[in-house]
Amino acid sequence: MSESTSLLLELTINGQPHAVTVEPRLSLLDLLRDHLHLTGTKKGCAQGACGACTVLVNGERINACLSLAVQMQGREITTIEGLSTGDDQHPLQQAFVACDGFQCGYCTPGQICSALGMVSEWQRQVPSARTADLRASHIAFSRDELRERMSGNLCRCGAYNGIVDAVAQVYEGALGEPAP
Ligand code: FES
Ligand code: FES
Repeated sequence: MSESTSLLLELTINGQPHAVTVEPRLSLLDLLRDHLHLTGTKKGCAQGACGACTVLVNGERINACLSLAVQMQGREITTIEGLSTGDDQHPLQQAFVACDGFQCGYCTPGQICSALGMVSEWQRQVPSARTADLRASHIAFSRDELRERMSGNLCRCGAYNGIVDAVAQVYEGALGEPAP
């Protein structure tokens, strides 16, 4: 049996530099959870269908289960653990509590990271499948757009109304227009 080749990986996670030796087949999700013990990021389907593993890579949301750790060389990863400062929760975390945006909470870290990535896409005016006019100079912040843009994150508890309320509440004003 041939020995697998391990590689030195250097990356930044939640502002902290890390240097770890990994096998080429290791997923980013397993690196976070099993090697670095950042278990806030959840494993649901492990095949890109549920969004429970969503993290930010250089500010873009991705499914960590579909990404190889070695692809993250030199990149900046943000997980749910990186969003709060001490006892101060991120406004999205507070809003999820205030709006009943969860029941069991298993999907919540992925929902929150996905919402952050979604808003960044919105601010860059990236269209979604709901965007009627792809040539429009401005894409309005609507509840339908929000639902579509968050549709890659499943909630088995069905807390969708609270999730949409929480995201809309936080970004009212920040997006330059009223929440839907
Ligand atoms: S665990 Fe990655 S998408 Fe489901
Ligand atoms: S709160 Fe339970 S899966 Fe979403």
